[in-house]
Parts: sequence; C-alpha cells; structure tokens
Amino acid sequence: MLQRLKELEAEVRKKIDDADSLEVLQSIKQEMLGRKGQVTAILRALGDVPSEKRPLVGKKANELRDLIEKLLYEKKQSLALKAQEERWDRERIDVTLPGTPFLVGQKHPLTLILDEIKEIFCGLGFQVAEGPEIEYDYYNFEALNMPKDHPARDMQDSFYINSNVLLRTHTSPVQVRTMEKKVPALPVRIIAPGKVYRRDDDATHSPMFHQVEGLAIDERISLADLKGTLLLFAREMFGEEKQIRLRPSFFPFTEPSAEVDVSCIICNGKGCRVCGQTGWLEILGAGMVHPRVLEMSGYNPEKVTGYAFGMGVERIAMLKYGIDDLRLFFTNDLRMLRQFG
Ligand code: FA5
Ligand code: MG
Repeated sequence: MLQRLKELEAEVRKKIDDADSLEVLQSIKQEMLGRKGQVTAILRALGDVPSEKRPLVGKKANELRDLIEKLLYEKKQSLALKAQEERWDRERIDVTLPGTPFLVGQKHPLTLILDEIKEIFCGLGFQVAEGPEIEYDYYNFEALNMPKDHPARDMQDSFYINSNVLLRTHTSPVQVRTMEKKVPALPVRIIAPGKVYRRDDDATHSPMFHQVEGLAIDERISLADLKGTLLLFAREMFGEEKQIRLRPSFFPFTEPSAEVDVSCIICNGKGCRVCGQTGWLEILGAGMVHPRVLEMSGYNPEKVTGYAFGMGVERIAMLKYGIDDLRLFFTNDLRMLRQFG
C-alpha cells in the first residue's frame, strides 16, 4: 500500500507538471480525487488494511490527497499567469508607431474671412441681418432707385426665376428689407453677409460670390463716419499701416457714391503688378444712402441720413491671402484649402 502511494505520487507529480491547460488539470483531479479516483479508492479501502499499519497508511494517503490539491492549485495559478502574459504579448501596442491619419475638417478660407469681417463690425456695434437669395425684382432693383429700364441694371445681369423674381445680384436688398421693418429702431447699424449671383465668369468674377452689406442710419450721420468706419475696418483686416482712399463713383442708391481702395497689401503703396502699379486695390462700393431710397423705405430724408457699403468677400480673401484666381475658392482642391484654418 505504501509503495502504491509512492508510485501514485510520482505519477501525479509528472502529470501535473506536464499539464498545459485547465481542462487537463480538471481531468487529473477527477482521476485522482474524484468519486472513482485512485486516491479516493485507497482512502475507501483503509478498512481492509491491517490495524497496525492503518494509521501510517491513512496518514500517507491523506498527505498525498493534500499534496495533489496543493500541486493542482499551484499549477492552476501558473497557467493563469502564463495565459495573461501571452495575452499581453499578443495585444501589446507600440505607442511609438505612427498613427492612422484621418481627415479633420476645417473652415473654408472664405468662412474665415467672413468670420473676421463679422467680428470687426460686431465690435463696432453692428448687428448681423439676413435676406433671401431668391429675391423680388422690387428689393433687388426697384426700391434701390433702379427702375425697370435703368441702364445700371446692365452691370448686374442675373438669373431670373420669372420676370419679378431673381437670384439677388448683391446684398443691397437687405438694406431695404431692414429699413422697411424698422427693426432695430434708430440708430440702424447692420451688416448683411451672404451669397449673390451674376452672369459673370472669369478669373476675378464668379457667377456666385459673397458680399457683406453694411448700413448705418441715424440723425446726423455723415460721410466722415463712413470713412472712419472703413479705415478702421481696413486696418483691422489688412494691418495698422494701411491707408484707404475714396474715389468718386456711381450707384443709383447712394449719393454721393464712392469706390474704396486700400493701399496695396503686396507693395504697400509703392506700385506693383498686383495693383497695376497704382499702389491701390479696390475692395468695395459705398456711399450715402440716396434720399429717394430713404423715402421709399419710409424715412424722412430731412431728418435722418445714412451710409451704406458693399464689399466683395472673395476680393478681400484674395488680397489677404495673395490668391490670384478667385475660382480656386470653389474648385475644392484640398492642396489649396488645407493651407488655411
Ligand atoms: C455693388 O454690388 C453694390 N451693391 C455695392 C454698394 C453697396 C454700393 C452699398 C453702395 C452702397 P459692385 O457691383 O461694385 O457694387 O460689387 C461690389 C463688390 O463685389 C466689388 O467691389 C467686387 O469686389 C465684388 N464683385 C462684383 N462682382 C463680382 C463677381 N462676379 N465675382 C466676385 N466678386 C464680385
Ligand atoms: Mg465695383
């Protein structure tokens, strides 16, 4: 019996040592300590052992059972540790490897310029107003002192929905819509950014482009207010050292009217290719709101005056970023767009 226990111990030690999974350990346990297990059988058979040998055999058999349980437990721990280490090995990530790049969106250069324009004017107390892109002939032309046969309409040929409705050719109709509503009450100070449409198509003229309209109405507003506001805008947008100049011009809805130039951002006024050697670049049209326009919108031109301006956003972006073809803004070439924002 004692001999048998020794053999069993050697056998079970080897088996546990060789075991490579929890399943194998389970079957060893079953084989030794289960209901029909070999150690169990010896313990059951103790009654048949002669009484003088029984205590020693019993003691050895119990020791073997405890030993097997201990070995099984230890092996189980070491298998679990090994499994964990293998898993860590398998799932190890090298944080120094380059990541998988994914495209992050960013603002379009025109949006950046629009944001900047809004920020400058909102800082001066202007509010942002909006108007429809599909507009009545009345607001786009008629109420701006351009009756049906006015020759100034030729400069802004557009896309007509029917004879009374068209894609707006400028943001100036928002002037009329704002004055009509009388909201906000005097003083009126609004800017109106948005898309406009014309039958144009070349390197500096797009069939769809953006303008920002400006309108200020109050008692005793003068051309000096317009000039001061635009000078401040030009310096915020293009730099402190910039100058502006107002050139006499014509718009049916302003009197007097002016075209506003800023000193060339490339040569700073010395004269270069971009500004055609003049040292100046045109950025917008402006003027004092025509008394007839004020009247048509229900104001008394004897009591209130106002100024208005309309700037081309693409033009400002071209100047600020040194872009020489406006169509680059609309062809969605990421090599170009990624340079901003
Ligand atoms: C106007 O549209 C007037 N409504 C501006 C105005 C407002 C004057 C308020 C007085 C008072 P003009 O047609 O010049 O004016 O256009 C204004 C600016 O829009 C131009 O200086 C130019 O920068 C831009 N622009 C005109 N046509 C195009 C075009 N096809 N593509 C891109 N920009 C254009
Ligand atoms: Mg012009």
